[in-house]
Amino acid sequence: QQADIGLIGLGVMGANLALNIAENGYRVAVFNRTVAKTREFYEEAGSLKGQIIPCETLEDLAKNIRAPRPIILMVKAGEAVDEQVAALKPFLAKEDIIIDAGNANFHDTVRRLAELGPNDPTFVGMGVSGGEEGARHGPSIMVGGTPESYARIEPVLTAISAKYHGESCSALLGPDGAGHFVKTIHNGIEYADMQMIAEVYGVLRDGLGLTPEAIGRIFEKWNNGPLNSYLIEITAKVLAATDKKTGEPAVDVILDSAGQKGTGRWAAIEAQMLGIPATGIEAAVAARSISSLVKERSEASKAYGDLGTAKLLDGGQAFIDALEEGLLAGKIAAYAQGFDVMAGASKEHGWNIPLATTARIWRAGCIIRSQFLDQIAAAFEGREGKNLLLAPAFVERMKTGSQSLRKIVAEAALAGLPTPALAAALGYFDSFRQARGTANLIQAQRDFFGAHGFKRIGEEGDFHGPWSEAN
Ligand code: 6PG
Repeated sequence: QQADIGLIGLGVMGANLALNIAENGYRVAVFNRTVAKTREFYEEAGSLKGQIIPCETLEDLAKNIRAPRPIILMVKAGEAVDEQVAALKPFLAKEDIIIDAGNANFHDTVRRLAELGPNDPTFVGMGVSGGEEGARHGPSIMVGGTPESYARIEPVLTAISAKYHGESCSALLGPDGAGHFVKTIHNGIEYADMQMIAEVYGVLRDGLGLTPEAIGRIFEKWNNGPLNSYLIEITAKVLAATDKKTGEPAVDVILDSAGQKGTGRWAAIEAQMLGIPATGIEAAVAARSISSLVKERSEASKAYGDLGTAKLLDGGQAFIDALEEGLLAGKIAAYAQGFDVMAGASKEHGWNIPLATTARIWRAGCIIRSQFLDQIAAAFEGREGKNLLLAPAFVERMKTGSQSLRKIVAEAALAGLPTPALAAALGYFDSFRQARGTANLIQAQRDFFGAHGFKRIGEEGDFHGPWSEAN
């Protein structure tokens, strides 16, 4: 019996996805460039072996899948995808579908589609989130492609996806690059979310002098409130863990230099290219870059000392509560930015990304999964494309939440504790709600040095200022 679907690339994500497919009753033909890995995967598949067809060549893989063939690629994003597509094409027909499930840059996905000839198989760009666990037991799946392609792969994607109260976390979000774009923004938001959590951890550690264990308990408690989310949950677990080698808290033995594979940076770059503010994401990307300057930071710490900054005022439980509410407010602003970037890209590329659906398929399976996304989905229902900060439910929350955010950012600044992402979120919020900003001065400066012109309030046309007289 032929397989229903094929999968290429048996790394951690690919192998788990293949097992997930098999477990859901679909037959899957698998291939890996290193044959030994294919054999090993098959041997370890246990009771799922009957659903798996291990293939040692691409020709073999194509033969073992029922036409029209859907084939998932789970290889390293970048050149490996192009190589795999080129190697695979000779064995495929026009009706087949290659599904790139890696963290591709959406520009590559658009290009790959454009490069396909009239008799080539079609191409789908699919964002998959949820790490190892998600891939194995239910990821969030963000698809970019044609409705026809999606209709053909929808049953298997729905089956393997995460479920939020029974609703599948897989959806077609638009054509060509839309799925990979949404995954990129998911990761950008993931960066902002993680960074804000780390900043609060820093305030608790360096400002209040709490132990990882004590901080872990705070996060554990917060996970039962409005911050309830996968990232808060794992933060609590991480802080409670002990290093086997030293018996120290595990976080205390880890070098404070964050890795990044590029998706967060792409999110910030795309936001900039679209001219849409995503300062929470940008600050988070920059914070990772600063974290990598281990030597310079050590030198600067010696050069500047503590600058005589004030001690953080220990406001007791009230301050801890402000941290909880402020973190949520910062998160709301960062998510508002992320969704705005998607709305902007959707307009720019004519994608029609459904924002409520996007929020819905992020409620389970993915790294940023949370209850909070259910509220975001509700906020976008019927008012797609409007900034989240203008949704009535969020206006109410931010009225009080922003005050806590303000308090913690201010206190941290006075104490010399860095909160770049939280501060960026606050700056965005305060600028966004300012009916009369300060760009009138920027316009005057531009006109002064470059005669760029400006608009007068309530008048049509371009004007110049009386600068020569001022000179
Ligand atoms: C996910 C994750 C996943 C991966 C990122 C991490 O949604 O499942 O985002 O895609 O963990 O690549 O990115 P960095 O290595 O850049 O932190």
